[in-house]
Amino acid sequence: MSMIPLLIGGLGQAIDYTQYVNPFLGTENGGNMFPGVTSEPFAVVKLGPDCGPDAYSGYSPTANIAGFSLMHESGTGGAPKYGVVSQQPVPGNVSNPLKDLSAARSSPDQAQVGFYESSLSSGVNVQLAATSHAALFNYAFPESSHSNVVVDVSHVLTSVGRPQWSQHYVNGNITVLPDNSYQGSGTYNNGWNMAPDWTVYFCGYIDAPTTALTFAGNGTTLSEYSSETSVSGEERIGVVFSSAQVNITSRVGISFLSSDKACHFVNTEIPIGTPLQSLVDTAKSNWNTEVFSKIQTPETDAPTLELLYSSLYGMNLLPSNRTGENPLWDSTEPYYDDIFTFWDLFRCSTSLTQILLPTPYEEQIRSVIDIWRNEGYMPDARSSNFNGRSQGGSNADNVLADAYVKGVRGAANWTAGYLAMLKDAEVQPPNNNDPSAPDSSTQQGRGALPDWLQYRYITPTYTRAVARAIEYSANDFALYQIASAQGNTADARKYLSRSRNWRNHWNPAASSLNYTGFPVPRNANGAFLSQDPLSCGGCYWGDAYYEGTPWEYAFNTHHDMAALINYTGGPETFVNRLEVLFTPNLNPNGSPQFNYTIFDPGNEPSFASPYLYNFAGRQDLSVARARYIAKSYYNTLPSGLPGNSDAGAMQTWLLWNMIGLYPLTGQTTFLIHSPWFSMNIDLGGGKSLNITTQGGDSDSNYYVQSLRVNGELWSKSWVTWDDVFAQGGTMEFVLGGSPSSWCEGGELPPSPASGDLIGVATS
Ligand SMILES: *[C@@H]1O[C@H](CO)[C@@H](O)[C@H](O)[C@H]1NC(C)=O
Ligand SMILES: *[C@@H]1O[C@H](CO)[C@@H](O)[C@H](O)[C@H]1NC(C)=O
Ligand SMILES: *[C@@H]1O[C@H](CO)[C@@H](O)[C@H](O)[C@H]1NC(C)=O
Ligand SMILES: *[C@@H]1O[C@H](CO)[C@@H](O)[C@H](O)[C@H]1NC(C)=O
Ligand SMILES: *[C@@H]1O[C@H](CO)[C@@H](O)[C@H](O)[C@H]1NC(C)=O
Ligand SMILES: *[C@@H]1O[C@H](CO)[C@@H](O)[C@H](O)[C@H]1NC(C)=O
Ligand SMILES: *[C@@H]1O[C@H](CO)[C@@H](O)[C@H](O)[C@H]1NC(C)=O
Ligand SMILES: *[C@@H]1O[C@H](CO)[C@@H](O)[C@H](O)[C@H]1NC(C)=O
Ligand SMILES: *[C@@H]1O[C@H](CO)[C@@H](O)[C@H](O)[C@H]1NC(C)=O
Ligand SMILES: *[C@@H]1O[C@H](CO)[C@@H](O)[C@H](O)[C@H]1NC(C)=O
Repeated sequence: MSMIPLLIGGLGQAIDYTQYVNPFLGTENGGNMFPGVTSEPFAVVKLGPDCGPDAYSGYSPTANIAGFSLMHESGTGGAPKYGVVSQQPVPGNVSNPLKDLSAARSSPDQAQVGFYESSLSSGVNVQLAATSHAALFNYAFPESSHSNVVVDVSHVLTSVGRPQWSQHYVNGNITVLPDNSYQGSGTYNNGWNMAPDWTVYFCGYIDAPTTALTFAGNGTTLSEYSSETSVSGEERIGVVFSSAQVNITSRVGISFLSSDKACHFVNTEIPIGTPLQSLVDTAKSNWNTEVFSKIQTPETDAPTLELLYSSLYGMNLLPSNRTGENPLWDSTEPYYDDIFTFWDLFRCSTSLTQILLPTPYEEQIRSVIDIWRNEGYMPDARSSNFNGRSQGGSNADNVLADAYVKGVRGAANWTAGYLAMLKDAEVQPPNNNDPSAPDSSTQQGRGALPDWLQYRYITPTYTRAVARAIEYSANDFALYQIASAQGNTADARKYLSRSRNWRNHWNPAASSLNYTGFPVPRNANGAFLSQDPLSCGGCYWGDAYYEGTPWEYAFNTHHDMAALINYTGGPETFVNRLEVLFTPNLNPNGSPQFNYTIFDPGNEPSFASPYLYNFAGRQDLSVARARYIAKSYYNTLPSGLPGNSDAGAMQTWLLWNMIGLYPLTGQTTFLIHSPWFSMNIDLGGGKSLNITTQGGDSDSNYYVQSLRVNGELWSKSWVTWDDVFAQGGTMEFVLGGSPSSWCEGGELPPSPASGDLIGVATS
């Protein structure tokens, strides 16, 4: 990738930031990023290759390509989802379309924003471009061989590793029309969210003279196309289009409502004759305007620019804007699917979306509220129009509170928003009888609510009891935030008190590595259970802690930090205890990749921990630890993410690291660490946050020497939304090679739930 210095273009000259985007960043080593074509942020169509099984985004650099399909997730864990509405180009004679038609590559795939290319060992070159609801395939077949495009309605991404969550083809139909177009639908189910049957409709054109053979059933029944032919059924069905022409263009639209609407999309978004390059240019322009131009910097270091703009790209692929395409209910509200998941995104991603893309963000908030209105619960995760799964708390609450306290209003109905949160807080959802956690719902809401209300902690009757209790505390704090802002004092008092209930899991006697006090499981009779704070059992659905150890969960009470610091023995001990998180070789259950630290850079429960030193007056250590993590575990390679991207959660963690702030979701507080470079962040409406760095570099001279906020000398290690985002602002950093006393004695970040610190939570 060639890199030129990025200069702020004068006189309206638009900069093409897409030159810095590497769509393959994070596609390997479990990052699971989707490298295929997206024509704009949150596009419905995500067009790319399907290699399988167990290719979560469809992509694998090594496995054969079995087809190119229009729907994918990006960066998710759990199990593969989508990979539907596909085509596979096959040269020669397709006598049996049901046999394995997958092909290896003759060279690595190529990608740019809005463009994807695969060269198959069969000799076919495939070039892809797309719009929001339609796809363009340009095939160049080898000379002197028959050209075939196989449309297999049953094609879907599957999982062998986690068969319980593998998707299935249920049934479908496809009709070939005299003009070489085809229409139909496919119905599929399951995946990580255990979705029931859902249907996508398609409408495709092969823009070349072809003959068509339909096939149906496990044995081959190829029947020659006459004037109009249909096949349908639960066995594999499809069509083989064959042509003598070497170069073939195909165009396909999708809809969740009807094949007529799919035809409308493809005919209006990609009319016949549309050059591929024009779609690529439009996609680049969309991404430049809507996303990349939001952060401008005089930085010239090529890998840094690649990290910056690739991260901005990777964080905006999900969710999918399916407004006008909701098959379940009629509504004038926006509709977004593919939330995968708020458990990952609430920590630092949704707050960055609000800052950089306020318009889609407000639509997303409205959509989540509309889902509650029509289905009864907001999602913690959602795909194929179905809520699921909830890993811990009801974290849409945190997202709504964050939006509310930072002034998101517009067309969002906050009466409804608060009612949706009350539902989470007060009504246990029906059990969906998930074999992974049969005790209570994993679909939505708070499954362990009865214990939470009765005991003010969660007994081992419920799986993930301690992790859920810590998240329910933050969820209740979210209700407190909105109730208190709306002057609802009764609710405010109630939920503030409930937000302290994590304290009821705190066993002051539990000890590990010379530190005492950890959140542990607790029986109905009040007894703490013995628990090794370095162990989370299997860390999974059936365990007391989900994807994190007691050590890590102990640092997840961000609304109640003063109490936590008190519980851990005061600021000095708290700082030393944080240091243990980052010390190599202390965690026998840890990952060798991360030098056996307790801190896990690859998963969300650890996200805020490196910044918490600010609460104990050691801002310099936040800078040192957080920068080390960013520089050690993130890079521009396909393996450049430390874990699943999780719908862009990893990328937003890195972006906040570059910006020099870290949000505390549900509060207006942003912890200050240290920016990597000067930048101007466009906040919309003519407002901007202008961050400048003087005397620093991102690799070693990154300690803050002094800071001015809006011109005023600053000695707090935090700013609020109002300080720099509400109306914009400036932050002028002077940086240097060693820690300074710039914020010594400055007011510490707020701990809004701490009050009298050890106020007994159960009172
Ligand atoms: C394609 O293969 C089938 C079965 O092997 C054969 O009967 C048919 O003649 C072949 N057609 C061409 C065009 O080669
Ligand atoms: C194809 O399936 C869809 C969805 O089930 C149905 O609405 C449609 O009528 C079917 N079309 C044909 C031709 O069978
Ligand atoms: C067709 O194949 C599927 C999947 O391999 C199998 O479940 C089904 O029983 C087969 N049906 C027939 C009629 O052979
Ligand atoms: C087919 O496409 C390739 C690559 O796009 C191009 O080089 C070639 O000239 C085209 N061939 C014909 C016959 O149009
Ligand atoms: C979402 O999709 C709808 C329907 O296509 C469109 O009107 C709306 O502008 C989209 N939202 C954004 C933020 O692009
Ligand atoms: C907002 O939501 C509330 C609660 O569902 C409803 O009563 C009210 O009519 C809604 N307001 C508007 C303007 O839609
Ligand atoms: C715990 O304390 C002992 C004795 O002071 C010391 O040797 C050891 O290094 C400490 N362990 C940790 C993890 O700090
Ligand atoms: C914790 O708070 C209590 C009550 O405010 C106080 O008496 C105690 O000294 C504090 N302990 C630490 C270690 O800060
Ligand atoms: C892990 O430890 C090795 C050996 O001490 C060191 O070279 C490497 O930099 C460490 N890696 C990280 C990511 O901390
Ligand atoms: C940001 O501030 C710097 C100096 O404080 C100034 O030179 C620059 O023009 C500002 N940039 C923008 C885009 O406002």
